[in-house]
Amino acid sequence: MKTAFVGKGGSGKTTLSSLFIRHLAAGGTPVIAVDADINQHLGAALGLDERVAAGLPAMGDHLPLIKEYLRGDNPRIASAETMIKTTPPGEGSRLLRVCEDNPVYDACARPVELDGGAVRLMVTGPFTDADLGVACYHSKTGAVELCLNHLVDGPDEYVVVDMTAGSDSFASGMFTRFDMTFLVAEPTRKGVSVYRQYKEYARDFDVTLKVIGNKVQGPDDLDFLRAEVGDDLLVTVGHSDWVRSLEKGRPPRFDLLETAGRDALRLMQSAADATYELRDRERYTRQMVHFHLKNARSWGNERTGADLAAQVDPGFVLGDTVTTSA
Ligand SMILES: Nc1ncnc2c1ncn2[C@@H]1O[C@H](COP(=O)(O)OP(=O)(O)O)[C@@H](O)[C@H]1O
Ligand SMILES: [Mg+2]
Repeated sequence: MKTAFVGKGGSGKTTLSSLFIRHLAAGGTPVIAVDADINQHLGAALGLDERVAAGLPAMGDHLPLIKEYLRGDNPRIASAETMIKTTPPGEGSRLLRVCEDNPVYDACARPVELDGGAVRLMVTGPFTDADLGVACYHSKTGAVELCLNHLVDGPDEYVVVDMTAGSDSFASGMFTRFDMTFLVAEPTRKGVSVYRQYKEYARDFDVTLKVIGNKVQGPDDLDFLRAEVGDDLLVTVGHSDWVRSLEKGRPPRFDLLETAGRDALRLMQSAADATYELRDRERYTRQMVHFHLKNARSWGNERTGADLAAQVDPGFVLGDTVTTSA
């Protein structure tokens, strides 16, 4: 399952991503955790110390390697240089699986030990001003989008992306790459306005969006979220002393997380798991092609000097296994 956490800065995306990752790991589920947020804090939230977190390899620094590997011997992709963040896989491309070793994980992923087992952590690397809001060739989140578009995952495997709700996820197709998008919102007008904006973008793309109300303090907060968000509200989470201890650098054992938090995490996993049966693999592939053609027209063709529409393999569908070409 591919899941994303989005929302306003400070709403609790990183906190809830990290709790969800810990929850999955505790249940023995294989997880690839991806930090694609402007503020790179997922490593720390997973318990890495600052120095180790700062030393993680950045996906953004390994784009040539990622492209070269994923391209494989796909005859439609002449070189890694003509591969942009939206270039879709086709016959001959290499696909990634959650549980395997490959050169992309070797270069970009590091194991993080959690109660219950290790997860793989990948980080985009810190954003600079040049990375924000641009549909750019070197886009940091481009590395993540490429990996998601080349990743086949089954029902009991998870990719969890901690992500900004910023304009570069809408300029590309990033926001359509998930089985489930958890929008974290505090019970405030600003929290809810990010939800509305996301919902608006997502409307035409069948994005499954559920709101996680965070820092909800009482019936008034709950009423507010219910009124503003309606059926999209999946669950609410209150203040957590466990999280506060984590912030102090002293995370208690995960099984000591408050019951309400644990219940919320279980519900989130059920909601994400339930989307598996509804997966529309053709639509997923069609959308990556849609965004690729859009990016090709708006900047990619010009930038690479190639006709990037020719990269599309019309017979290809990204499935759950690795043999999918028509
Ligand atoms: N449920 C919670 N209980 C206690 N503190 C929380 C909770 N959710 C978030 N926080 C705190 O709020 C701050 C912002 O959360 P963070 O996850 O970093 O937000 P974001 O990633 O959306 O910017 C952090 O200090 C975090 O520890
Ligand atoms: Mg964050």
